[in-house]
Amino acid sequence: MGRLNGKIAVMTGGGAGIGRAAVEIFAREGAKVVVAELDPDFGRSTVEAQTAADREAIFVETDVTNEASVKAAVEAAVSTFGRIDILYNNAGASFLDDSATEKGDPEVFWKTLRLNLFGTWLMCRETIPHLRAAGGGAIVNTTSTAGIVGLENIDAYSSAKGGVISLTRALARQLASDNIRVNAVAPTRTLTERATRINNARPTGTGGEGNRNRLGDAMPEHIAYGALFLASDEAARVTGHTLPVDSGFTSS
Ligand SMILES: NC(=O)c1ccc[n+]([C@@H]2O[C@H](COP(=O)([O-])OP(=O)(O)OC[C@H]3O[C@@H](n4cnc5c(N)ncnc54)[C@H](O)[C@@H]3O)[C@@H](O)[C@H]2O)c1
Repeated sequence: MGRLNGKIAVMTGGGAGIGRAAVEIFAREGAKVVVAELDPDFGRSTVEAQTAADREAIFVETDVTNEASVKAAVEAAVSTFGRIDILYNNAGASFLDDSATEKGDPEVFWKTLRLNLFGTWLMCRETIPHLRAAGGGAIVNTTSTAGIVGLENIDAYSSAKGGVISLTRALARQLASDNIRVNAVAPTRTLTERATRINNARPTGTGGEGNRNRLGDAMPEHIAYGALFLASDEAARVTGHTLPVDSGFTSS
């Protein structure tokens, strides 16, 4: 018996990194997964790996920052599987041209907010009516240690991920009476291909140093297992919270 048996899960950014690991883990635990991913090659190869293992997943090309695209993705999920039980908002990124506020470029600020905060908000807006129609469900958002402590010299990303924490709390209060739980996972520095490339290219003193992680950098699976708990019925009385999977980085 899988921990998500029979659940329908929509996963944004499921084509690479943490999202790809989560697609694998959620599907292995019995969920049917909708991979709502921007990159068609990433999305298709993630789904092919699942179908080759006799698990159910579909790819829907999705840009979480685009209203029409988000609506179409949610409709595709419902028309394929009949309902949605879980929304995992994983798509997000920090950009190399993020900076200290004094040096900040408004375009970088808005593209960061648009992907990380607006994209999460939009996916929630379109999915909530379907979670309600299903009699309840779970949303797992993705923040970052940057959203908890505010990491140095990536101020747009820290702002966006802080916003995700507040959105998570606000939605949790509003939706508890509909049996919809809303939580967030907060990864530390995680060794995904893109994040590793960006972190290596950043100047020292930017984005928190990996060596401040008490247990070391995380692997994508470490974060995905945190999200799995929040998405599963094991977390039936957990809502409005952010779970740091951060090797102790934000602990006292
Ligand atoms: N890796 C880290 O060190 C780290 C640390 C803290 C938080 N996070 C957060 O975890 C999440 C996943 O990070 P990751 O390192 O696995 O990223 P990643 O870049 O490895 O994968 C992100 C996936 O999202 C997709 N994507 C990008 N823009 C999209 C859009 N507009 N619509 C739909 N899909 C889109 C990408 O194509 C990619 O497949 C992000 O929200 C990130 O901010 C990551």
